[in-house]
Amino acid sequence: MNAALSPGIDVHPSREVACRALAREIADRVRAKPALVLGFPTGDSPIPLYRELARLHREEGLSFARVRGFNLDEYVGLSAGDPRAFRAWMQRQLFDAVDFAPGNAQLPRGDGDAELETRRYAAALAAAGGIDLQLLGIGRNGHIGFNEPGSARDSRTRVVELAPETRADAAQLFGGLANVPQRAITLGIADILDARAIRVLAFGAGKAQIVRRMLEGEIGPACPASFLRGHRDLRLVLDEPAAAGLRR
Ligand code: GLP
Repeated sequence: MNAALSPGIDVHPSREVACRALAREIADRVRAKPALVLGFPTGDSPIPLYRELARLHREEGLSFARVRGFNLDEYVGLSAGDPRAFRAWMQRQLFDAVDFAPGNAQLPRGDGDAELETRRYAAALAAAGGIDLQLLGIGRNGHIGFNEPGSARDSRTRVVELAPETRADAAQLFGGLANVPQRAITLGIADILDARAIRVLAFGAGKAQIVRRMLEGEIGPACPASFLRGHRDLRLVLDEPAAAGLRR
């Protein structure tokens, strides 16, 4: 088990302010290294961040033309054009609003041979030189990407079964629980920990308990996000309600 390092914890007055600060860091990194490799999450948490990155592109000329993006995960069984796929979601939230070069913003494909796709995706990420900055949300059961409780620290890109609470959280989007895919492709915990820097976004009172557990609970597979505490360049980007449970 890794010794717990002390992560940086930034507590902001609101999620918008938090996301502006993180967008500023991303912009500085892209300007310093135009071919930066970014790891992207889906979910509600990064929405204000993507909106702010789009604004920086529009109003301040921030260019993603050479940036490479690798998303964390995708549902198995959905085509890339399916509006419920993470691919389509990323197009709407970010990719269509900035200037990624075609093919430079990747997600696992959910519609082919999933096992084969895990190998292709892992190879593409390795060929890009790994992730410079991994952005992450955290599921209410402590999952990161789709590394559900039970995921090992040394897990790699693979096909996973989704946990019941994860599928329940997605039910509305899919028009009922029965329509939510059972499986997904996700980067593994070891792939996430290989990133040179990690920033975790968590906002709202609903995240207070899992943020506390991630930072102060036992490090292990019961809370996959707890493994992040072994990373050398980890910062949490929180609002006050998400930080409310922390001993400080
Ligand atoms: C989904 C995604 C995760 C994300 C999590 C939390 O399950 N696969 O990558 O971090 O939800 O989402 P939210 O930010 O909406 O709370």
